[in-house]
Amino acid sequence: MAILISPSVLNSDLAHLADEVGRIGAADYVHLDVMDNHFVPNLTFGLPVVEKVIASTGLPADVHLMIEKPDVWAPAYAEAGAASVTFHAEASAAPVRLARELRQLGARAAIALRPGTGVEPYLDLLTEFDMVLVMTVEPGFGGQSFITGTLPKIRRTREAITALGRDIWIQVDGGVSTGTIAQAAGAGANMFVAGSAVYRAEDPNAEIEALRALATDAYRG
Ligand code: DX5
Ligand code: ZN
Repeated sequence: MAILISPSVLNSDLAHLADEVGRIGAADYVHLDVMDNHFVPNLTFGLPVVEKVIASTGLPADVHLMIEKPDVWAPAYAEAGAASVTFHAEASAAPVRLARELRQLGARAAIALRPGTGVEPYLDLLTEFDMVLVMTVEPGFGGQSFITGTLPKIRRTREAITALGRDIWIQVDGGVSTGTIAQAAGAGANMFVAGSAVYRAEDPNAEIEALRALATDAYRG
């Protein structure tokens, strides 16, 4: 299973976004947190900014939509060239229909679960998705601490994927750092979002390499 690091620009200097994305050349993806101030109590940026980031970097875009009505808004991000589009299970009216639409538009389709949302309703539907995002904080803000109570959910999800024999990724997002990444990888996560850990580091690329090395050692699929 590929071990992938996707830094979140949420807590970077958003007035110089292209420069900030330019500081994470060692990353596998760039994680873009779209928030609408309704699904979460915070507001960031939307499609016009995401389009410009996609045009300005060689990194594939990993778009995390923390918005209401993703069934309406998510396809435009796939059309804009996002490599991966993640929408929240709690917000989607028809997750399977939306995932199929995203795939048809050429993006990887991913479903996100808040810490309090169970994976069980989706276990029979896993093949409809390319990735499950298990949120390890309540979505909305960077800089929160990792919720270890989400680890059993990561394990159950990985077991179900392994039983299917499919290459479906598990992403974790929130509080991921050199202190927590091994736990998530040991539970079966293979794609890691890190916001403050990367952007607060003196050398973001060295931090990305350190995170990748720790995850590679700890990964248990
Ligand atoms: C939170 C966002 C995250 C956030 C992570 O709702 O989805 O992507 O930027 O930030 P850290 O790594 O600081 O927890
Ligand atoms: Zn995110």
